[in-house]
Amino acid sequence: MKELNLQIDIRIYDEAELDAADRQLVAAACEATQRSYAPYSHFSVGAAARLADGTIVSGSNQENAAYPSGLCAERTTLFYANSRYPDQPIRTLAIAARNDRGEYLKAPIPPCGACRQVMLETESRHATPMRVLLYGTEGIYELQKVGDLLPLSFDATAME
Ligand code: THU
Repeated sequence: MKELNLQIDIRIYDEAELDAADRQLVAAACEATQRSYAPYSHFSVGAAARLADGTIVSGSNQENAAYPSGLCAERTTLFYANSRYPDQPIRTLAIAARNDRGEYLKAPIPPCGACRQVMLETESRHATPMRVLLYGTEGIYELQKVGDLLPLSFDATAME
């Protein structure tokens, strides 16, 4: 028997410790929660991506009465960024969420599995690491690359 131990590195910041660019991106993700369409879950998620040229693109979760037809904030944002700016790598993606009482989550918002998979593909198509900032009022998690959110992941190399 062999054992494989995978390690992930997460840095935890107070908002005041972030640099101005990261604070701006987190603010854009928070602001995007205001444009969420979440009449069913009342859970409003926002995401903001900073592209290599400095452009910021943001998006929010968009729900539907046919529940599976809705889409998470992260994928709304990444699909838009990649369709509008296909040649621009995404340097950093910030994510924020508010609960059904309108309060930002205390703990950093963990992206769902499907969004992690799309984040991974976005990172690999541009062949450059995408930093991830997960906002919580009691701390902001910083991951240097998407692989840290999805260890042992499936990607195109598995099909070679
Ligand atoms: N949601 C996101 O937008 N991102 C996530 O990573 C987790 C979940 C949305 C989907 C749905 O509109 C609501 O939050 C409740 O699941």
